[in-house]
Amino acid sequence: MNTRVREIPAHLRVMAHDDIALVSDIERRSYDFPWSHGVFRDCLLAGYNCVVIERIDRVVGYGILSIAAGEAHILNLCVDPMYRDLGYGERLLDEVLDVASREDVGEIFLEVRPSNKKAISLYRKKGFRNIANRPAYYQAKEGREDAAVFSKVMKKAG
Ligand SMILES: CC(C)(COP(=O)(O)OP(=O)(O)OC[C@H]1O[C@@H](n2cnc3c(N)ncnc32)[C@H](O)[C@@H]1OP(=O)(O)O)[C@@H](O)C(=O)NCCC(=O)NCCS
Repeated sequence: MNTRVREIPAHLRVMAHDDIALVSDIERRSYDFPWSHGVFRDCLLAGYNCVVIERIDRVVGYGILSIAAGEAHILNLCVDPMYRDLGYGERLLDEVLDVASREDVGEIFLEVRPSNKKAISLYRKKGFRNIANRPAYYQAKEGREDAAVFSKVMKKAG
């Protein structure tokens, strides 16, 4: 990616219903088992914290966080394959962590495929630790794949 691409400013904003088509397109190009359009619509309807990162007029990534009973769960974090390694994933994750912090979340969780070294490196960089594994959690091309559960303590209880 050349420097001019990197220099184009990007900003974060709340995801709107009109973003779902573009978000779903990024999702399809990013995962073997992508979420459908309807899953994103349900996330918005459920009031989850859904953010996008946008360059000029093009959405290039998104993050989805659910919060309940003082705990948060990162349900999705994804950057368009054409715009990776430019710092957008980290900015999205920082935003998600800021939302959790503002909402007074005690601990934040996520699942990730153990084979997803890039994402794991990003989560570790931001202070997440591998606390458990969920056997056969993900659909895989052949059978099922485990999930690594990561968490980050945002504030101590009590
Ligand atoms: C994981 C993902 C969101 C990272 O987004 P990105 O914009 O490419 O990442 P960034 O440029 O912000 O990089 C942030 C950190 O991610 C890690 N990372 C990014 N690219 C990497 C690579 N090629 N190799 C190893 N680590 C990498 C590093 O820790 C990096 O920090 P550093 O630059 O200080 O080394 C992106 O790869 C993605 O969308 N993947 C597909 C969807 C997915 O798997 N999401 C996670 C589901 S749990």
